[in-house]
Amino acid sequence: MILLADDEPAFQRLTAGWLRSLGHEVITAGDGDTARSAFEAHGADVVLLDLAMPPHHDPEAGLALIRQFAPSPVVVMTGHADQPLALKAIEAGAWDFLAKPVDPDMLKVVVERALERARLARELAAAQAREHSAEDMGLIGQSQAMVSLRDLIRRVAPTTLPVMVLGPSGTGKELVARAIHAASPRAARTLVPVHCGAVPADLLESELFGHLKGSFTGAHADRPGLVETASHGTLFLDEIGEMPAAMQVKLLRFLADGSYQPVGARDVRHANVRIIAATHRDLAAAVAEGSFREDLYYRLKGVVLKVPALEDRAGDVALLARVFLRRVDGAPAHFAPGALEWLEGHGWPGNVRELRSVVECAAALAPQSPGGRVIGIADLAFAMGEDAATAVAESPPPSSRQSLQEEVMELERRRITEALERTGHNHTHTARELGLSRVGLLKKMDRMALR
Ligand SMILES: Nc1ncnc2c1ncn2[C@@H]1O[C@H](COP(=O)(O)OP(=O)(O)OP(=O)(O)O)[C@@H](O)[C@H]1O
Ligand SMILES: [Mg+2]
Repeated sequence: MILLADDEPAFQRLTAGWLRSLGHEVITAGDGDTARSAFEAHGADVVLLDLAMPPHHDPEAGLALIRQFAPSPVVVMTGHADQPLALKAIEAGAWDFLAKPVDPDMLKVVVERALERARLARELAAAQAREHSAEDMGLIGQSQAMVSLRDLIRRVAPTTLPVMVLGPSGTGKELVARAIHAASPRAARTLVPVHCGAVPADLLESELFGHLKGSFTGAHADRPGLVETASHGTLFLDEIGEMPAAMQVKLLRFLADGSYQPVGARDVRHANVRIIAATHRDLAAAVAEGSFREDLYYRLKGVVLKVPALEDRAGDVALLARVFLRRVDGAPAHFAPGALEWLEGHGWPGNVRELRSVVECAAALAPQSPGGRVIGIADLAFAMGEDAATAVAESPPPSSRQSLQEEVMELERRRITEALERTGHNHTHTARELGLSRVGLLKKMDRMALR
């Protein structure tokens, strides 16, 4: 489908007629606003845009329009004398230009080339979406929790339902939001992230909904909001729990029917945006204490995806650690056996983010050897609790890596036995005291024959 935006009725009729006779579907618009809403409503594979249209007849305003049809290719149409303007338009993101009066054969070639490009972009996006939904969607993990999470993502991705992603810090909530977008029909458009806590409260509204020139001090020009940038794509509202109360009302309205008002505007606008929100906070508690609106909570709570803490994903630590290690630049590296076991048994309060940074630091610290870098338990000392780290550091120099490993095991056995005695053999308490997961503790106990 081609969108033809031009304010001259005769030109519009002739051009549309010619394109239709070539077998193309054409919709027309006589000014910038109509063009934008037609694009919003129907989408268009290619946009033919006259730069000087009502109400301003100002080519600069036309230039500002170009970006709003992204990612569809825009062909601008300019008068013959306007060569420099055409170049400006290309700089502003236009795909090509045509000089008026438009030569029909030229028009045919340019439009067909632009349609071909749009088709290739769509195919690429579809292939990427397929690839994403086919394998791990960028979310590594074989634990039951991750398998179910990916399954749920595949099921919500094709819908336009708002999604709420919950989970402790560093568990991969943003990655989940990106996976949903990438597996959705909106994958060819952008995902626009907004960190609700990082933008000052009084700026958040204009950031999201845009503003008109002069609507407040410092508003020197009209500015589109992020909902417009995210049009036909996805808006990711990160840390939604930090959203100021006044904004929550406006967001609720936007969620209800897609309508919003830029700051300083009288007219109501619409944007077709899918919302994904995330927070590490307990929103139900925030509702109970009155800092988060109940109605907004229930609207967002339609589909909730819970991202589990890393310690509740049995088997994933080793898998993630290996992948993170492979991603580190430089010579190939691998883990010595004790190192992986230690990683698996650690409690990971900082979740996947912490694991990633421990692996990256260890890779940087590990000594080079002829077979590549080997990350041994000593290279993880910095990540261990203070006691363990000191013990590793103070132990007499090991004759080989193996003997150091044995020493660490010995130290671990002693600490575990002591803690078990202190807690009356309560595994949960012992694990907590030692900064281990319960599963990690049990594994170690099995290995040391302490059970
Ligand atoms: N399943 C996973 N597979 C691969 N990488 C992951 C996975 N989960 C998280 N990560 C990586 O861990 C880091 C943290 O992830 P992310 O930023 O998505 O977490 P978050 O839950 O949004 O954290 P916060 O609450 O602090 O904002 C990122 O580097 C991300 O790429
Ligand atoms: Mg995040």
